[in-house]
Amino acid sequence: MFPTGFVWGAATSAYQIEGALTADGRGRSIWDTFCAQDGRIVGGDNAEVAIDHYNRYREDVKLMADLGLTAYRFSVSWPRIQPDGSGAYSGKGLDFYKRLVDELLSYGIDPWLTLYHWDLPQALEDAGGWPSRDTSKRFADFAATVHAELGDRVRNWSTVNEPWCAAFLGYASGEHAPGRREPAAALRAAHHLNLAHGLAVQAMRAQNADSLIGGCVNVYPVTPATGSEADQDAARRIDGLQNRFFLDALLKGSYPEDVLADLSHLSDMEFIQDGDLATIAAPIDMLLINYYSRFTVSGAPGGAASAAAAPTDSGSPWIGSEHVGFVNGGRPVTSMGWEVDDSGLREMLRRIADEYPRIPLYISENGAAYDDVIGEDGTVHDPDRVAYIDAHLRICHAAIESGIPLQGYFAWSLMDNFEWAWGYGKRFGLVYVDYETQARTMKSSALWYADTIRHGGLLGRAQ
Ligand code: FCB
Repeated sequence: MFPTGFVWGAATSAYQIEGALTADGRGRSIWDTFCAQDGRIVGGDNAEVAIDHYNRYREDVKLMADLGLTAYRFSVSWPRIQPDGSGAYSGKGLDFYKRLVDELLSYGIDPWLTLYHWDLPQALEDAGGWPSRDTSKRFADFAATVHAELGDRVRNWSTVNEPWCAAFLGYASGEHAPGRREPAAALRAAHHLNLAHGLAVQAMRAQNADSLIGGCVNVYPVTPATGSEADQDAARRIDGLQNRFFLDALLKGSYPEDVLADLSHLSDMEFIQDGDLATIAAPIDMLLINYYSRFTVSGAPGGAASAAAAPTDSGSPWIGSEHVGFVNGGRPVTSMGWEVDDSGLREMLRRIADEYPRIPLYISENGAAYDDVIGEDGTVHDPDRVAYIDAHLRICHAAIESGIPLQGYFAWSLMDNFEWAWGYGKRFGLVYVDYETQARTMKSSALWYADTIRHGGLLGRAQ
């Protein structure tokens, strides 16, 4: 059994589900531009319709209520609320999220609002994007306005979802929008995403609400392929870029010296200005952790092929450590090719709780893509996903028992949706979506999760 008050949630993000990209004066985002370019998205998919959540949100909230969710994590679309990323705000855009939140509250579901899940207004990219410091300031203004408008009904806030992805997939590997392959710019982007987080925290706090505000990082344990010095160095480097660059900044107010040294050929770091790190480490009420898998790495020349392959032609996101190879760790994989390793979640929770003590933790994303099919009887049987979530929830439970301040879990994702550069081919949902008809069907994992929530804990071990 989980403690009373444990948050049972599921997560989505605006761009992946809403569609309606031109409705009600929404501005253009970097993902609209990116999807329109040849070769960026598998199958040439785009998010113009996605799963039509903009029009079907009532039906979707009803599904959440049927599941018994106590919380729903979603993001707001910046270009829907502020079409150009500066200047005028859209009343209609804000109204959509007010209606969504009111609908959630009417069922007693707690809204968890993420301010940025990667859909930057194109106008801000045209002005330089995240490598430009001004984007952080624009984000703080946006955060303040959304908070002023929705702070009366939303208690739980988070700033930037997975700054690692936004910086390094967006500006180094080019696998995500805006698709730039500029390592030095990616480093600036990473810092400005951290700065955006800190400035937004300050701007929201200045409004004196009793909101709870957090940052959100995606963490991976990193294992060296062998005990060799080269492999251990590779693990230090990848751990530094993936985990410590963001955790240390947000929770300690410093960047790891070894990571800055690894990157010193790219920049003199003049963009890290006095006071920035104090801003970035502005006190937060909780840390949101997204966890999917473990990396095993090799630093040997010509190291093994990447186990975390990109779906389309792309460069390396691992700036300054492009030589590192990602090795198959020999575990079962999901349809993303991501290795299933619940022990990695145990490791990261323990480490975060030890190194950054006392901060309340939430798993804000965890889940798996499998090639689900809808059977002739209309059901979707997904035992692998049940086993994945069950195993990770068992780790969460043990973590709580051992005193780690873990307070909730959000499955990724509530529904199948637009999986970025992978398009619609990868299904992460608890709920199956027929992309032709937009019909929603609970998979067996959804029914299992509903039972778990109703029971307040895990029933027998999943088969
Ligand atoms: C995370 C993203 C989320 C989704 C999952 C599978 O990195 O935050 O939008 O794509 O991965």
